[in-house]
Amino acid sequence: MDMVSANEAGRGVPRAVPRLGAAPKAWAGHIESVLLDQGQIQARVAELAAQIEEDYPRGDLTIVSLLNGTVMFIADLVRHLPIPLRLDFMGVSSYRDGTDPGELVFTRDLKLDVSGRDVLLVDDILDTGRTLARAREKLVELGARRVRLCVFLDKKERRATPLEADYVGFLAPDAFVVGYGLDYQEQYRHLPFVGILRPSIHSSALRVEVLFHSYFKELAGCGRVAVDLEPGATLAELRAHVLGLFPKLRPMERSFLVAVGVDYQPGEHQLQPGDEVSFFPPVQGG
Ligand code: XMP
Repeated sequence: MDMVSANEAGRGVPRAVPRLGAAPKAWAGHIESVLLDQGQIQARVAELAAQIEEDYPRGDLTIVSLLNGTVMFIADLVRHLPIPLRLDFMGVSSYRDGTDPGELVFTRDLKLDVSGRDVLLVDDILDTGRTLARAREKLVELGARRVRLCVFLDKKERRATPLEADYVGFLAPDAFVVGYGLDYQEQYRHLPFVGILRPSIHSSALRVEVLFHSYFKELAGCGRVAVDLEPGATLAELRAHVLGLFPKLRPMERSFLVAVGVDYQPGEHQLQPGDEVSFFPPVQGG
């Protein structure tokens, strides 16, 4: 399989996020500020489409769009593409209710055959990178010849899996954004702009910082990640969540050490917003 990165392809140079604007009155109670208005979105989507058209001049492209967040983006993007293409959808979501909260599950399978095809995989936002990495892996398993990645937004600083998109609309700040297909608890998808959700709306989530030390950093693929949990979550629940997010840590499950701040705590310890939780390998020769 021939994978082309943004740099190799010379594509996907994303736009910096423009100046923030005030939210329309009707949404001011929910939206802190507007990140991208309709005009900015449409202009950039047309540019992305022009790049894609240039890279696939003969068409014969299969676009696979991830549900549900891409609903607006994909509808706009394909209408700017005057090349033959086939369009299909895949559903991927994080399985949160079970014992393995970070596991990704496919909620809708592809209907089109992608074997031997050039595929453009489209998502709304590239965050830790797990969703697109798994979706791309699936397309490779199905025999796709080459898979390129296209995302509307890229939260680069949150990446936990090394992955870059070939086409990127805009770089997004590390804030929860909604609108233009993006939701919070299935709300706000229909907003025609992208806005930053007021923290008071989603502050019920408990955000803690997870730090990986020593060779755990390599296994996790990053030194630090922010994790959102249900209020009242315990250290044991965080451990399970982290194992779901970083499967390479699972073989270490019985031996690794976890400290909240600088102290080791039992599993039933209740986490507080802003806690820093460190994951260490067992102390050698101790
Ligand atoms: P990963 O971490 O797998 O995440 O790259 C990609 C998916 O996470 C969701 N996501 C968001 N959804 N506002 C949203 O509405 C956000 O700020 C946000 N950040 C991540 C999204 O579903 C995306 O497909």
